[in-house]
Amino acid sequence: MNVTTTKANLATIDTPLLAVPVFSDGARGEAFDAVDQALSSLLTTLADEEQFEGKPGSTLLVHTGGRSGFGPKRVLLVGCGGIADLTAQDLRGLTAAAVQDAHKRRLDGIGAVLPTADGVDEADAVRFATEGALLGGYLYNEWRTKDVKEQSVKALTLANVAGDHAPLIARTVESCAGVNLARDLVNGPPQQVVPEYLADTAVKVAEELGIEVQVFDRAELEKRGFNLMLAVHAGSDKEPRFIHWTYRPEGADENTPQIALLGKGVTFDAGGYNIKPTGAIEEMKLDMGGAAAVIGTLRAIKAWAPKVIVHGMVASVENLVSGSAYKPGDVYKALNGKSVEIMNTDAEGRLCLADALSYADALGVDRMVDLATLTGACVVALGPNIAGIWANDDDFGDKVKAAADRAGEASWRMPLAKKLRSMLKSPTADMKNVGERWGGAITAALFLSEFVGDTTWAHLDIAGPSFADKPDGHITKGGTGYAVLALLELISGEL
Ligand code: BES
Ligand code: MN
Ligand code: ZN
Repeated sequence: MNVTTTKANLATIDTPLLAVPVFSDGARGEAFDAVDQALSSLLTTLADEEQFEGKPGSTLLVHTGGRSGFGPKRVLLVGCGGIADLTAQDLRGLTAAAVQDAHKRRLDGIGAVLPTADGVDEADAVRFATEGALLGGYLYNEWRTKDVKEQSVKALTLANVAGDHAPLIARTVESCAGVNLARDLVNGPPQQVVPEYLADTAVKVAEELGIEVQVFDRAELEKRGFNLMLAVHAGSDKEPRFIHWTYRPEGADENTPQIALLGKGVTFDAGGYNIKPTGAIEEMKLDMGGAAAVIGTLRAIKAWAPKVIVHGMVASVENLVSGSAYKPGDVYKALNGKSVEIMNTDAEGRLCLADALSYADALGVDRMVDLATLTGACVVALGPNIAGIWANDDDFGDKVKAAADRAGEASWRMPLAKKLRSMLKSPTADMKNVGERWGGAITAALFLSEFVGDTTWAHLDIAGPSFADKPDGHITKGGTGYAVLALLELISGEL
């Protein structure tokens, strides 16, 4: 989508559809008034008659009937709630509504008027409005034979913009390509998106960008001792993969800080012998949402050009049942030497991440962040839209939270409650892989903490926000690409 900005008079903008924000607290807003005046009060008449109150999410399409001297063919009134508490992030909803309405009508372009409001910085408004169109216009129609596969909207004009934001827009286009790549990977059916597919995708993206990438196959994983990851994969006929890409900023040397981003890449989680029942298994292609976020971040990393060395790691397997699958009672030694008794084969994500974290720790990175669709318990605690953040360092946990806030991705800090560590005691090995029922998301985080050594570490449980059961503004149904934007913010800020 080609994105441009203009300060031109709204009536002169040549576009098939102009989105105009409408506010609900008192006045409808400057943009509404300006367009209304150019249309001889047509908007006021229609908005009054249709009782359009500017509620968030509501829209009203007004065809301008080809009036001479008025550029936009259609005006889409988009409810934006109260202007008093409007934030720049809310503008994603404005352009998402416009692109979705325009695609239904097969229009090839849209415009959107960015409101002038207290607390809404122009650059931020441009960024989030661009995200709204590029993310809200995402379609996954790969496997449909009837639907129009391509987004019809090819151009976005952001109006009421005075400054030059071309570099910011170019970067935002790349961020959104990263998010949408992550969505494609989650949405792809699990017979297609197997570990090798994730690795091939990462290699392709890395090579296009000239970024270093390594892939460990089964033999390499066996040699290195990724035994927990291999145990999870034992029931699969496919090949496991561990991906490691490395971004180095220009002029990087041994003093450049290093951060590792680690993604759980279980391309299908049947639960293993602790098999998931009907109702819990259907969406388990989503279980590589953490891996998707790490690969999506790779896609956009050059455009953000962070000043630190960034390692992206993905541990990718399938968790299935077969004669060779791992069993409850089995004991395996992790890459860092600790022994783990398997008490539930469905607690597999933490096993894959244990080896990945051990690997990153041995590499000597300064910071690590893992991302995993790890527990249903986290979804019970925080609901479907909010990620849980655990950290072994409060300052770093706060930084991860702040990065997610800046990105407009919902998250909440959670406690690494040491008291629950005793739930992981095993009669046979150093620990078992599950605790008790209560505090399941916390014991999962405590399990991971056994493999981070002294490294400053944060864990994001993204089981809820990785996948959307219904669309919501710029968030489309299915894979959401959650965490790509937060990770780009994190690695670009003060660590
Ligand atoms: N992949 C699941 C977690 C999950 C659940 C993600 C729902 C998205 C939606 C994970 O591997 C799992 O099965 N966790 C178990 C842990 C339990 C066995 C301790 C769970 O949450 O039930
Ligand atoms: Mn599982
Ligand atoms: Zn899982």
